[in-house]
Amino acid sequence: MFGNSKDLLGIRDLPVSEIQEILDRTAEMKKIVMSQNRKTTDLAGRTVNILFYENSTRTRLSFEMGAKMMSSVACNISASGSSVTKKENLIDTARTIDVMQTDILIMRHGLSGAPHLVAKNVNAAVINGGDGTHEHPTQALLDAYTIIEKKGDLKGLKVVIVGDIAHSRVARSNIWLLTKMGAKVSICAPKTLIPSGIEQMGVTVYNDVEVALKDADVVMGLRIQLERQKGGYFPDLVEYAKEFGINEKRLKLAKSDAIVLHPGPVNREVEITSFVYDCDQSVIDEQVTNGVAIRMAIMKKAIER
Ligand code: CP
Repeated sequence: MFGNSKDLLGIRDLPVSEIQEILDRTAEMKKIVMSQNRKTTDLAGRTVNILFYENSTRTRLSFEMGAKMMSSVACNISASGSSVTKKENLIDTARTIDVMQTDILIMRHGLSGAPHLVAKNVNAAVINGGDGTHEHPTQALLDAYTIIEKKGDLKGLKVVIVGDIAHSRVARSNIWLLTKMGAKVSICAPKTLIPSGIEQMGVTVYNDVEVALKDADVVMGLRIQLERQKGGYFPDLVEYAKEFGINEKRLKLAKSDAIVLHPGPVNREVEITSFVYDCDQSVIDEQVTNGVAIRMAIMKKAIER
């Protein structure tokens, strides 16, 4: 259970105590992921089905790997290879998977709110693997876990998120989580990629990356989501990189022990340079590893109801 819900649909309504519990449990799961005997019986006899209407490498594979490490029957279905192409609608597709006795349904969809609709129509616990521009809760949880691994605590940290805030579900989930846990969150993007009223989420808004990065503890780059952009928000990617890209010189404006995160996939030389991706301050690979552990902790929690 996640609060009073069978489902994990977002961070916004997840109590701090539940966030903390998931982070604490992830430490145990990480030991399993990093061991030479990656097997538990936590999900033995359970079924995990993964239904993605959008492409994914990290989220989908980490859920599937984690589910298999925990001894579940784990299956993957892409909308493009399913009866969705024969016009089966979302609820009927989800119900079909549900009545195969699915315990956990992981889903990603291009429309904000799609997992919420599905959750009301199935018995399975629904976990949101990203819905439109709305939320990506498991990403925010793995980001928080990665920051805590390196910094010890989130409280008081200056976290600067740079990139396509307007179209980013990762930004939204991270802002909910990090502000709830006491971090000071700043966002930075061209004015056209800052949603109006976002200050109400408790963030400081910058349009100058060199001002934003000053004394940051954590720097998070976000991908420019061209697939979700319906208009010209900036002249071109070269211009964006010149004005907002995180490079070696700009990273030096942050604290000397600042860490760099990016949810991936990364467009090298656009939102961050190859130097920054590959430097010692980058924890992007650790984020991916921690993604398996966090999703294992979440799936274990999902069957406790
Ligand atoms: N961060 C993230 O969601 O990556 P994928 O699209 O590869 O799952």
